[in-house]
Amino acid sequence: MTEQELTDKVVASFDSAKDDRFREVMQALVRHAHAFVRETRLTDDEWTAAIEFLTAAGHITTDTRQEFVLLSDVLGVSMLTVAVNEPGLDDSTESTVLGPFFVQDAPEIAHGGDIAGGASGEPSWVSGRVTDPGGNPVAGARVEVWEADDDGMYDVQYDRGELAGRAHLFTDAEGRYRFWGLTPTPYPIPDDGPVGRLLDHAGRSPMRAPHLHFMVTAPGFRRLITHIFVAGDPWVDNDSVFGVKESLIRPFDRHEAGTPTPDGRQLQTAWTSTTFDIVLRKE
Ligand SMILES: [Fe+2]
Repeated sequence: MTEQELTDKVVASFDSAKDDRFREVMQALVRHAHAFVRETRLTDDEWTAAIEFLTAAGHITTDTRQEFVLLSDVLGVSMLTVAVNEPGLDDSTESTVLGPFFVQDAPEIAHGGDIAGGASGEPSWVSGRVTDPGGNPVAGARVEVWEADDDGMYDVQYDRGELAGRAHLFTDAEGRYRFWGLTPTPYPIPDDGPVGRLLDHAGRSPMRAPHLHFMVTAPGFRRLITHIFVAGDPWVDNDSVFGVKESLIRPFDRHEAGTPTPDGRQLQTAWTSTTFDIVLRKE
């Protein structure tokens, strides 16, 4: 059997699959995987290394550590999937990767509330408006936000079992939202596992451009999953998961300690502020 005959035979083995989409995806997977092996003339040792890599990725994965998401992220597969599915039409806000640290059921906060919940970092006042493509306010949109602390760690990476640095709130009648978060700081994706070794081998950094995650949902609109990035930060040009889009880079204005805050909160420290207006796509 020639190489091509083998490929054809494996592709054909999925011909009788009952689900059309399953057949299409699996046959494409086989064609591309075979093309990869042929193109690289993959050796036995390399095949073994690949199996060991995937095995290690499985072993290190837990409920709170998702090595396969990291792998997809650093290979740009996550961002390519975003590009295919969320092309950013109608001047709607652009999407980026979900990442591995989203948690369901983060607490609800009132307008102007603080998402920190004990997470350390410099306070940051974040406000904006959620509208449809025509500029009409989307009232009652659920705005979910989450971020790392200033040590670059998400709450779920600690063993405390407490949620911090994440919350949700709902837009008001004018589509507005506002809350206290933390000024985002750069952090490395977890790099003590196989994906970290892969990056090291490639001479690549595990650092992510500093960001604040958003997920915005409202009836009749497509769910938006995105981040905002800190303008001027050097990592914005070299994000390890290729997640940065120009439109999502926001200035975080610095205010010295003692500068009055928008809601009268008394702060002993410096703080920042930023705005992020969001345009949702209709379903
Ligand atoms: Fe993140």
